[in-house]
Amino acid sequence: MTFDVDRFQDALETRWVGRRLRHFASLDSTNAYLKREARAEGLEAGSVAVADAQTAGYGQRGRVWVSAPHDGLYFSVWLPLSLTQRPLTLLAGVAAVTALRALMQTDEIALKWVNDLVCRGRKLGGILAEALAGHAAGGVALGIGINLATPEALEGIGLGALGEAPRRDAMLAGILNHLEAGLDRLDLEGDRPLCDRWKAMAVTLGTDVRVEAANGSFEGRAEDITDSGALVIRAADGSRRTVASGTVRRSDGRYC
Ligand code: BTN
Repeated sequence: MTFDVDRFQDALETRWVGRRLRHFASLDSTNAYLKREARAEGLEAGSVAVADAQTAGYGQRGRVWVSAPHDGLYFSVWLPLSLTQRPLTLLAGVAAVTALRALMQTDEIALKWVNDLVCRGRKLGGILAEALAGHAAGGVALGIGINLATPEALEGIGLGALGEAPRRDAMLAGILNHLEAGLDRLDLEGDRPLCDRWKAMAVTLGTDVRVEAANGSFEGRAEDITDSGALVIRAADGSRRTVASGTVRRSDGRYC
């Protein structure tokens, strides 16, 4: 289904997030595009790039994010660099899940630490926040990809598996509405209430997991997240470890 910019604008309720939208039939990557534009001309905070397809979409650790035409929602928002001090990935996850649950009328959509949207034990979407620092036009490209069609990959799922997938224009407006509302709440309440909302939507806590982190891999019970969004793991010997970034699977090998 085509992305209708007028419908998007009608559904957008924000003051600044998404007020400048650039829609493309195809881009290499919406994250890469925003970073290029910021370097070249500067970008206003809240600018959004959305593409029907990406030819070089990527995810965490440089993994390919398959982005076939109309098979998913692929977009990035340009946010102030100061937000790298806040748990931005958790914020984006809560905003996306809140919007998708409302649009799809289901609670089956959930979060997996740290940047995955999941459904029925499979990956539905992902979040990639990339900072452009040390530059006058610095900022953060916050990219989100959500599958509509179920990908070939064994562990993927698309919204279409749950019923009629919503229009991409409505999805984008809904997510951006919740993103800006979440940013407002962060200012008022601080990070802890956001982390509590994330925990209530997450499938990771209370399960036995294997963590692959930069300093090695280990197993334990995923117990909690800190205010900054790091995962707290309790090992079998009772010791606790805190992991700021990495990938997590169930100890039995399942994705989540
Ligand atoms: C992940 O799960 O590793 C994160 C995937 C992020 C994919 C999105 S799609 C829109 C934006 N553009 C990209 O190239 N990546 C992000």
